[in-house]
Amino acid sequence: MGETGKVVASGSEEHEAFVSPRPGWAEQDPRDWWRACGSAVHKALHSSDLSADDIACVGFSGQMHGAVLLDSGDEVVRSAIIWCDQRSEAQSHELEKLFGRDALIRLTCNPPLTNFTLTKLLWVRETEPKNWARVAHVMLPKDYVRFRLTGERAIDMADASGTLLLDVTNRRWSTEVLSKADIDSRFLPALYESSQVCGKVSAAGAEATGLRIGTPVVAGAGDQAAGAVGMGIARAGAVSATIGTSGVVFAATDRPALDPQGRLHTFCHAIPGRWHVMGVTQAAGLSLRWFRDRFGVAAGVQVNEGRDPYDILAQEASSAPAGSDGAFWVPYLMGERTPHLDPNARAALVGLTASHTRGHIIRAVMEGVAYSLKDTFTIFDEMQIPVTSIRLGGGGARSPLWRQIQADVYAHEVEIVVAEEGAAYGAAILAGVGAGGWASVDEACDRVVRVASRIAPNQGASKTMQQAYRTYRKIYPALHQVFA
Ligand code: XUL
Repeated sequence: MGETGKVVASGSEEHEAFVSPRPGWAEQDPRDWWRACGSAVHKALHSSDLSADDIACVGFSGQMHGAVLLDSGDEVVRSAIIWCDQRSEAQSHELEKLFGRDALIRLTCNPPLTNFTLTKLLWVRETEPKNWARVAHVMLPKDYVRFRLTGERAIDMADASGTLLLDVTNRRWSTEVLSKADIDSRFLPALYESSQVCGKVSAAGAEATGLRIGTPVVAGAGDQAAGAVGMGIARAGAVSATIGTSGVVFAATDRPALDPQGRLHTFCHAIPGRWHVMGVTQAAGLSLRWFRDRFGVAAGVQVNEGRDPYDILAQEASSAPAGSDGAFWVPYLMGERTPHLDPNARAALVGLTASHTRGHIIRAVMEGVAYSLKDTFTIFDEMQIPVTSIRLGGGGARSPLWRQIQADVYAHEVEIVVAEEGAAYGAAILAGVGAGGWASVDEACDRVVRVASRIAPNQGASKTMQQAYRTYRKIYPALHQVFA
């Protein structure tokens, strides 16, 4: 990113998809993230006439919650157990018993969940004692990449909030939680605010990426907080709805706002003195990706004729009307967080008839994901969290059909911002603040984040979807026992 906020160069590289050795499990090899990162940074540098000397500072973002375990020689102990993994339900219950749910919410602002890092650590300790005995360092995914780039063990407040080890209100590791859960505080990285410089590119990091030795690196933030910064979601009232692999509705707040039922996460924002609340759908973009991978595009359409398979799916979906003629998708492919907090929830297609087509099913998948995100807006209403504007991010912002479905389902105008890079753009803003280019994240967002377009709800379709949403809300309670 240049000094005006313009994207100067970019590069990307795929890493392996997660492996799921058992239903509900999800693991990745951290070394593969580092390989992909080195290649992506090389590509970015080569894609323009940038020299490594032009880079003033590097920012970070990445998937949250994952447990990366290193031994005393800094070797990876086992594959990382990542954010959507659901194996640690028993450990979640143990924590609830050990602390009491309310006490844990008081200490960390959040209830125990299978997604959070602490329950994953306890699973390894109980199930794989040999691996646990080797653990000397614990870090989150992007912080492993930073470690390989700089040699520093560091983390930002926003990503640390998703470990269940942070005192989110006071922005420090919770000594109470660490001591009662018997986790050695020496395992943890040092805490920083997101735009603080926390290290420099090392010789090994420079060799792997093409960056210059000594280039400063800021702490950065987990994907949701960084994505929010990239969309200008900085002050209370600004809300984003992002459909990536997961789906997140995110509101910036000026205090740690608590949902007494723990259905939303209350985390630090990537801005000092600011927090955020967010509701999470586990399988948002993942629902459509799953459909694409398992059922492909329509027979007769040549996938390799150069069209994006998602465009082909969206074209099919646009043949179906709002409400998909009564077909519903509940997107619980990986259990669910908001609003059910149920690792055993399962996805379902409900209401099929002989007249439904593939187009109906694809549209139902897109609508079901939007209904699931709307559940968070419903909780925001209960908690009186202000929603003055909604900005869309991720794949759900790129697809014209999904944009309109979201405006109709949320019954609210939605905005698309110019920079499409989401969390990477937010990470670059944080680096810009760290390098002194802007005095604060607020100032940076005001200067560089621009709205490209606004989409209003379609009155007729929106009315149909509000009615359909009321039906959608009855499906989980009806199927709950079946899932269990
Ligand atoms: C947020 C969350 C996801 C992951 C993967 O709580 O789990 O955003 O970070 O995108």
